[in-house]
Amino acid sequence: MKNKLPQIYIPPMAGVTDLVFRRLVRLVLGELASSVLLSTEMISSKGIMYQENPTRMRLADDEQGKVIIQLFGHEPAVMAEAAQIAEKAGASGIDINMGCPVPKIVNGKDGAALMKEPSLAENIVREVVSAVDIPVSVKTRLGWNEQNKNIAEFALRLQDAGIKFLTIHGRTRSQAYTGKANWLEIAKVKEILEIPVFANGDIDSPTTAQEALKTTNAHGLACARATIGNPWVILNIAKKLAGQDNLTEPTVEDRLKVALLHTQLAYEDKGERGVQALKRHFSKYVSGIKTASVWRQKLALAPNYAEIKNILEQMLELDLKTTFDIPKIALL
Ligand SMILES: Cc1cc2nc3c(=O)[nH]c(=O)nc-3n(C[C@H](O)[C@H](O)[C@H](O)COP(=O)(O)O)c2cc1C
Repeated sequence: MKNKLPQIYIPPMAGVTDLVFRRLVRLVLGELASSVLLSTEMISSKGIMYQENPTRMRLADDEQGKVIIQLFGHEPAVMAEAAQIAEKAGASGIDINMGCPVPKIVNGKDGAALMKEPSLAENIVREVVSAVDIPVSVKTRLGWNEQNKNIAEFALRLQDAGIKFLTIHGRTRSQAYTGKANWLEIAKVKEILEIPVFANGDIDSPTTAQEALKTTNAHGLACARATIGNPWVILNIAKKLAGQDNLTEPTVEDRLKVALLHTQLAYEDKGERGVQALKRHFSKYVSGIKTASVWRQKLALAPNYAEIKNILEQMLELDLKTTFDIPKIALL
């Protein structure tokens, strides 16, 4: 398992790591695609039982056996059954969410709330592990809050229960996304575990990736937010870790073409709803472009697919013909 496990992981992100995003990342990665581990968004185990999440569960034909399906929930039997369904759907592994901080999830005893109930967390892992043949992993945090940082004993219990790797976001649940991820705390946990650890939190470039690896001595890294609207960051991290120095600096044209492709694929897959959900990517796709704020605003206000496509095509035209000094005038 350890040898086959890639070193780079784009971990689950609800509303981001869907089928279209994964397809796009693979396109950008090209032959380095096999060096990156991909996951679905988190999926409710109960939802799976009631078939409420068919889209999120869906893996493309060429993704069979190559994508982790992440589940959330807190009932061992339900989680085990959902895991079996995910295995049948073609998952390469099951990841259990024990880190999500949002009230809707933790109030239902799911996500990071499981860090407060280590026995239950352990039972969930044991049931899931015995229900499926594919590897089971967990993604978690340092603890519930500063006073309850129990990641060390928590991780040992999960390891004992049979997980094959652990992803640790170097923050507590109370921190949510504030402050800085604490890689030194991840290093301490890595030290006492036998299973591979993925360090997570604030890795946003080849440089921070190397720093995080050095600090944590972890098996690998999980890079999440930095990939939004910037799949090249993963390509460059993969290149760096593979010892290549020819990093890819996407041109304005590259960014816009990928943004356009992303929009088209999202529309084909989920219609207008899929396109609206892409707005957080647009902001990053156009960053670095002169007058980006004007375009960002136009894209944010665009009501539908046709309008967004139109704006991106217009930008592409301007870029090809002239430079991005012009749009400000053109927009008046
Ligand atoms: C929009 C968004 C959605 C997320 N959804 C999930 C999720 O479904 N499951 C999960 O375990 N973590 C989720 N996360 C947390 C990330 O996987 C990751 O742990 C966190 O963003 C820290 O890593 P980063 O600094 O590389 O972004 C989400 C984060 C963001 C920003």
